Amino acid sequence: MRYLEDDLKDKTILITGGAGFIGSNLAFYFQNNHPDAKVVILDSFRSGETLSNGNLKSFGHFKNLIGFKGEVISGDINDKDLLLDLEVNYKFDYIFHEAAISDTTALEQDLMIKTNVNAYKDLLDLAVAHDANMIYASSAATYGNAESPQRVGREAPQNVYGFSKLSMDYLSREYMKENEISIVGLRYFNVYGTSEYFKNTTASMILQFGHQILSGKNPRLFEGSDKILRDFIYVEDIIQANIKAMKPKKSGIYNVGTGKARSFQDIVDILQRELGTSLKCEYIPNPFIGSYQFHTEADIQTTKDALGYEPRYEMEDGIKAYVAEIRRTYIEEVK
Ligand SMILES: NC(=O)c1ccc[n+]([C@@H]2O[C@H](COP(=O)([O-])OP(=O)(O)OC[C@H]3O[C@@H](n4cnc5c(N)ncnc54)[C@H](O)[C@@H]3O)[C@@H](O)[C@H]2O)c1
Repeated sequence: MRYLEDDLKDKTILITGGAGFIGSNLAFYFQNNHPDAKVVILDSFRSGETLSNGNLKSFGHFKNLIGFKGEVISGDINDKDLLLDLEVNYKFDYIFHEAAISDTTALEQDLMIKTNVNAYKDLLDLAVAHDANMIYASSAATYGNAESPQRVGREAPQNVYGFSKLSMDYLSREYMKENEISIVGLRYFNVYGTSEYFKNTTASMILQFGHQILSGKNPRLFEGSDKILRDFIYVEDIIQANIKAMKPKKSGIYNVGTGKARSFQDIVDILQRELGTSLKCEYIPNPFIGSYQFHTEADIQTTKDALGYEPRYEMEDGIKAYVAEIRRTYIEEVK
């Protein structure tokens, strides 16, 4: 579905993190709906480098971009020379900033702040220099266990990842005051959908449960999973919000969720229905109590007002739309 009337002819769009889950979905959205736009992807892609928690430092994967015909740059947003080169040799109209240490369990505070906050400031300067609109990924992790429904202005991050995203939001507010450019921060809630497979264990629980079920294993849930509630959002609605953020009524920071909290038990039940299984669930103690979000639910009123955003996918619809891809990745990547 196309969300913007303009054809974006002669427009140049930078997508940082374009080899990742959400960035690659954005890249294909433009290729399919605005073929006259020039899309440039900047991503560090994956190397073998891991963080102390054992996860990859960056998850970008070429397979997320098979079929993408725009320009692809392998590079690090922390590389100031590279950003200078982009400033001199390109003229961006829109910057979609998705690159980040996206792993909410990463412990390296130095790398997290440098990559998520400090490099973002350099990209804001690039946006100002080019008079480009900045649309960047913030996160529901800024809220931690703050009371539901979560509202901008009531943050309580519980990990360095959430802290880094909140720092990006504060920085953005300063830039909004001092500059003319349009800046929109989108606080994504729990996103699932096509092209998340290469996030490995940090992919959504929808994909992870889907693959567990397809392998014939009993789905393993934390005890009390009917009471662990999150606002799960299908990637198509995330794309809608990003595109509508190109023409906001007002710069600002906005939640992007469905506005409804659903349980982990719901995920498994819907998946079992879609996949035609009736495996017995196993319940295990939750080792993350204390650093775990138990109820997230986005207040999306200001997002609706400022962006005209209207989520289209309830969890039943999102999983239905996604299930063929869950099967495909299982057959082609897991088996
Ligand atoms: N997926 C979610 O549920 C979710 C929720 C809230 C916020 N977010 C945010 O949305 C954005 C996109 O997330 P995603 O789920 O697509 O994650 P992802 O890890 O698939 O995408 C991030 C991309 O950034 C790249 N990258 C990492 N460090 C880089 C660096 N130093 N220089 C250049 N590229 C670098 C990675 O290679 C990867 O391709 C991130 O900013 C993330 O924090 C995601």
